[in-house]
Amino acid sequence: MTGRGNSMNAVGSARRRLPKGLAGVAGAVLLALIGVPHGGASAEPAAAAHTHQSRTLAVWPKDPSESWSIAMGGRLYDNWAAVQEIDLPKKTHPAYPRTSARKGGGTWRCKECHGWDYKGAAGAYASGSHYTGIKGVRSLADQPPAMIAAAIRGAPHNFDAKLLPDFLIEKLALFISKGQVETRDYIDYATGKAKGDATAGRGPFQNFCANCHGFDGRAMNFKTEEKPEFVGTIAKKAPWELVHKVINGHPGAPMPALRDFPASTLKNILAYTQTLPVK
Ligand code: HEC
Ligand code: HEC
Repeated sequence: MTGRGNSMNAVGSARRRLPKGLAGVAGAVLLALIGVPHGGASAEPAAAAHTHQSRTLAVWPKDPSESWSIAMGGRLYDNWAAVQEIDLPKKTHPAYPRTSARKGGGTWRCKECHGWDYKGAAGAYASGSHYTGIKGVRSLADQPPAMIAAAIRGAPHNFDAKLLPDFLIEKLALFISKGQVETRDYIDYATGKAKGDATAGRGPFQNFCANCHGFDGRAMNFKTEEKPEFVGTIAKKAPWELVHKVINGHPGAPMPALRDFPASTLKNILAYTQTLPVK
């Protein structure tokens, strides 16, 4: 298991290195042609692939569907820096309460203040080490994306165009307006148990997820050798996170976003992953 996990990582980083270089060359050629100053945020990702050396942004579709755009927004909500393959700022976010437990870059992720379940202090982060007391973004479902985009740019966030260029803010706003799911339909909050049918989830798990994560979800270890974290671990510890990742994919990784699958299938996948080994 460990061996497979390692080789997976090796493949991952080799894959990551190569296109970066290629994207850089392509970006430089493009820039020479169109004369945009290096580092300037622009409206279109094709021309903006230069802003960061991001593979994710370099393979942006020419004709993004709404579903793709929403899932991209979901990955940005998860970790907007990982999507762009840049580092999160080092200092704790100014709007992050000093009395809460976390520090540093992680406090800049949308999910850290508003939750994997979009409910903020009214959801899974109502207590524990992720508690901030900040409200969620759940009530903004179906609200105009332009209004949501303005909230992301403005106080208390102050995400400037260097951190989040307009074309990414647009995707984030679309996700918040049209992409949130009601996690209470997936999870019984009192027990943390999935509401789906685990037996029915075995098929889709084996057909999709197992190709990368293995039939027992342990082909990739997300944490350390001593404190391993597998699909099964996350499914039990943070089912909200698993729901978000299955629907929107994982930032900076080639994991597919199953947003267009029937909700019942997604619910059953979650239920099945809760039967997998946690270590
Ligand atoms: C450090 C904590 C923090 C982070 C990180 C953060 N927010 Fe917020 N956000 C807040 C606070 C505080 C408010 C104001 C809540 C209030 O009005 O009570 C807020 C409000 C919002 C609102 C408006 C909510 C409303 O009901 O009007 C939106 C939309 C929003 N955030 C989206 C995002 C997105 C998208 C990200 C990631 C790019 C993000 N936030 C990251 C703390 C944070
Ligand atoms: C094409 C390969 C692929 C497929 C298919 C895939 N994943 Fe992933 N998944 C990844 C990669 C790569 C990562 C990132 C791992 C890392 O960064 O260590 C990831 C990350 C995750 C994470 C988050 C780990 C973390 O760090 O928080 C979860 C949970 C997860 N996958 C579950 C699933 C489930 C459930 C399915 C099926 C619905 C699935 N994945 C399908 C490749 C895949």
